[in-house]
Amino acid sequence: MGERFDTLAAKDATFVMGTYARKPVLFVEGSGMRLVDDEGREYLDFVSGIGAVNLGHAHPAVTEAVWQQSSRLVHVSNLYHVEHRAELAEELSALLGGGWKAFFCNSGAEACEGAIKLARRWGRANKGPDAIRIITAERSFHGRTLATLAATGQPSKQEAFGPLPAGFVHVPLNDLAALEAELDDTVCAVMLEVIQGEGGVYPCDREYLAAVRTLCDEREMLLVLDEVQTGFWRTGETPFAHQAYGVRPDVVALAKAMANGLPAGAVMAAGSAAEAFSPGDHGSTFGGGPVICAAARATIGALAQEELGRRAGVEGAYLREGLGRLARETGMIGEVRGRGLMLAAHFTAPIAGDLVAAGLERGLVLNNIGTDIMRFLPPLVCGKAEIDTLLHVLSELITDRDGAS
Ligand SMILES: Cc1ncc(COP(=O)(O)O)c(C=O)c1O
Repeated sequence: MGERFDTLAAKDATFVMGTYARKPVLFVEGSGMRLVDDEGREYLDFVSGIGAVNLGHAHPAVTEAVWQQSSRLVHVSNLYHVEHRAELAEELSALLGGGWKAFFCNSGAEACEGAIKLARRWGRANKGPDAIRIITAERSFHGRTLATLAATGQPSKQEAFGPLPAGFVHVPLNDLAALEAELDDTVCAVMLEVIQGEGGVYPCDREYLAAVRTLCDEREMLLVLDEVQTGFWRTGETPFAHQAYGVRPDVVALAKAMANGLPAGAVMAAGSAAEAFSPGDHGSTFGGGPVICAAARATIGALAQEELGRRAGVEGAYLREGLGRLARETGMIGEVRGRGLMLAAHFTAPIAGDLVAAGLERGLVLNNIGTDIMRFLPPLVCGKAEIDTLLHVLSELITDRDGAS
């Protein structure tokens, strides 16, 4: 580790709150799938800043858009019309199939928080004053604000922060009977990730999501989908994961890859949900600012133009196949899950953290969830050569471990 790393790591420890156990590396630049550290070492990035840099690092179209807009006007607030906001909303609506309105914010938690407020507002207006409960899934993740933490189905993340806002019920994913058992007139929405990301890459079953849609129609509830991690072609051909399931939600939360790593988020709503907020109901100083909206438009344009969804589908299938082979060869992977370039290898022993640490030394940026799941979220420019390198190094690391133990 270089002197610059030592200085910054020490300052981080002294002046930045310890909410993350940071890896021992200082990244100073990137391009596509490649990252470079302060000593000039190159890495292949299979994390994308936790699924946020779908276009790859330092994409020139986004850099240019930020430069152009920030040299003209950075911020005036949502009290005024600005360039790029309405156009971005129109483009997002088109990507979702048309007929959508946007509320812009700055992160995934804010998008989910906005979706929760919208669902409650809609429930009160359409079903009655008690219709404020929201059903979410066990193992889900919707953010770290108090309401999104309450929505999150992971008690370990909640325990230190009570009391949390009331009105959230967690049910096991893909168990329709469990969800039905919770329904009454106080429920205004069901909120799900199409593929649970932070929980360990667990997809909704196709039949389950379709049945939840039907239940929402029959019982007058909104279907809210959190596509913060699955959005923007992460899961393959379709811009959003639910489109591959053939289901149309009422509300969609977006963030992460929306502006290729810059802080952007949106609550998208269709039908009566799109009309639920009135002036004064919700707001954000920075959300929908012209620089971020220009960056998001450039991101979406380049993702479409470079056909990175198709690529995510093809290369994701290649990675999945390779992980399957690795499972057979090593006997250390019990299950491979996910879709497109959002995949996980579930190990049969608690080795994921050790592999991530060893991978970094071999030039791979990897991510583990808990001790036994490794999650892969590379930029969508990821190709077969990079996947071959990943699989080769992983195979060696797993074999070395076997030899060591
Ligand atoms: C599905 C989902 N929702 C919400 C969030 C929260 O996003 P943020 O960290 O931008 O607040 C995340 C973050 O990982 C996520 O994966």
